[in-house]
Amino acid sequence: MRDFGLEVFFSKWEFSAQHHMTASDLESMSVDDLMALDPNDNTPSLNDLWLGYTETWGAPDLREAIADTYDEIEPKQILCLAGAGEGLYMTAKVLLSADDHVIVPTPNYQSAETVPLSVCEVTGVPMIYQANTKHAWRIDLDGIRAAIKPNTKLLSLNFPHNPTGMLMPLDELDALIALCREHGIYILSDEVYRGVELDPSDQMPQIADVYERGLSLNVMSKAYGLPGLRIGWLATQDDELLLRLERYKHYLSICNSAPSERLSIIALNARTKILARNHGIMSNNLVLLETLFEDFPGLVEWTRPLGGCVAFPRYTGPGDAESFCLELIEQSGVLLLPSSIYRSEVADTPDDHFRIGLGRDKVFKDGLQAMRTHLEKYYAPLAK
Ligand SMILES: Cc1ncc(COP(=O)(O)O)c(C=O)c1O
Repeated sequence: MRDFGLEVFFSKWEFSAQHHMTASDLESMSVDDLMALDPNDNTPSLNDLWLGYTETWGAPDLREAIADTYDEIEPKQILCLAGAGEGLYMTAKVLLSADDHVIVPTPNYQSAETVPLSVCEVTGVPMIYQANTKHAWRIDLDGIRAAIKPNTKLLSLNFPHNPTGMLMPLDELDALIALCREHGIYILSDEVYRGVELDPSDQMPQIADVYERGLSLNVMSKAYGLPGLRIGWLATQDDELLLRLERYKHYLSICNSAPSERLSIIALNARTKILARNHGIMSNNLVLLETLFEDFPGLVEWTRPLGGCVAFPRYTGPGDAESFCLELIEQSGVLLLPSSIYRSEVADTPDDHFRIGLGRDKVFKDGLQAMRTHLEKYYAPLAK
């Protein structure tokens, strides 16, 4: 597998940049703050916790807490994982063999195409960009239909979408499910940003609830803001496939971290509060960001994200997106993600956008101020 572009980029900058303005998770919290949210206050103290192996499937009460977040899925239809990345990896390795075929929209979170590519043929179908519309990035339904082959086994989706922050209109999701049902295609739906949709009425259903060949991937990392827990999960109605995934986990993480399982249960039970806090942070940041862009007309073509905590504006200022991002980090310590990081091996991707993260609290406000200072200094002619 080729290097994971985004992770290589982050290993250079994530902990050294002064202003991390492209985080893909919501604001995190301390163990103390999380424990204070325990509504029953009856969780055994972490100090007393036994640090032996845990169940490969995940603790029964964790699977119950996760199942509570679905309409139809039951605890036995959930396999807990060490983060969402493990789910993307194991689904490709378990479900696919060399003579299968996979379809994946681009741009995408790289493991959605790179891991399947290590097993079989993958067709990328670029998303359609139409500025100044609510759903500015859309799945190309006709393109997906045209890409289907007799051996197509899997379609990989990710909504709310990284990097565009888009959601799918429900009629398009229905049409896509009908198409996959007709051809017996599995849908792996990466739903890690679900829960902080800007307008909750836009929220999409979870695929495992509505499609018999659907796999829902989720995690504590993103909408909940707890990536250090490394707890994720796959949910599906396909019991036989889930069992094969569980067998494969024996070769990967084997079981979850015991303290993380306890802390995840607390977070899931307190999810209304956590998601409301995170939604508030994100919506406030969005207003501040839009004010900055309004003060520098011509800098970007702006699309408001609909869900998740990242946005993907098109850079329209002097030079190009790549040099804009490079100058920001080198001259002012502000880290953005140029769209070149989303380069795909299976389809064209845009090179004139950048990703900005809206999920952090003080880090975002300080970073935005640094961005403003940078723009005032170097982009003065654009200022209103
Ligand atoms: C769309 C998407 N899926 C999966 C992951 C991996 O999540 P985790 O860190 O929980 O493994 C990420 C992380 O950035 C992501 O953006």
